[in-house]
Amino acid sequence: MTNQNAAASPNDWSRFRIIAHRGASAVAPENTLAAIARAADLGARSVELDVMLSSDGVPVIIHDTDLARTTNGTGPVAAQSFDALTRLDAGSWFGEAFAGEGIPSLADAVALILSRNMALNLEIKPSPGEDRATASRAIAVLAEAWSDPATLVLSSASIEALAVARDAAPQWRRGLIADIPPPDWRDLFADLGCANLHCEASTATPSLIEEVHAAGYRLLAYTVNRPAVAATLFKYGADGIFTDDPAAMIAAFGA
Ligand code: G3P
Ligand code: MG
Repeated sequence: MTNQNAAASPNDWSRFRIIAHRGASAVAPENTLAAIARAADLGARSVELDVMLSSDGVPVIIHDTDLARTTNGTGPVAAQSFDALTRLDAGSWFGEAFAGEGIPSLADAVALILSRNMALNLEIKPSPGEDRATASRAIAVLAEAWSDPATLVLSSASIEALAVARDAAPQWRRGLIADIPPPDWRDLFADLGCANLHCEASTATPSLIEEVHAAGYRLLAYTVNRPAVAATLFKYGADGIFTDDPAAMIAAFGA
């Protein structure tokens, strides 16, 4: 596989300005290969995906720790082997056109993203107690495929996972996810070597954005599906937004 992102400039942040959240999840089942492909078709330059582990330690792309909402399975993701997870239908809940769409492995998702010349924000979203293992196994998969640090951001709400990322893959930028940034976010950033704060859109106030920028970091806001809200955030100085509807955002702001 050729890494078509290899020539990207490390200082070109524009590819992360509009990030397709869980893929193009407004028009395809979230966190599937179909959602990634649709994001690329719509012109998105980056996607955000959530990764957790199967019971046998394979990184898979799924948001919830329980299978019920987005698949025809039930119970914890962490209780199922990779083989069992790959037999589930992760598309029918969204629409019959997506029947048979599976839960992708991280490896397959990465291969598709690279083949479509997109950047990736991988959110490490561990099942309970799996923080370190999820980060280290996801990083091991990425290390096999991803060569350009400019096109990859690892993020997590888990301090443990970010610490593993800092130690195992310092070359990849890290983002701390916090709906509401904790008062000690600066200390966490210093300790974890984070570059970005990823926060819920309503907490991305002009003063927070100014504080983050003054400290030398970037701020990305989630989840923003109305162009008017995105316009306000960009006016405040937000560096990027996560959106389920990249088509609407690209129409409003360009890719
Ligand atoms: O990474 C940004 C956003 O995806 C965090 O929230 O719950 O959608 O994974 P969530
Ligand atoms: Mg996420």
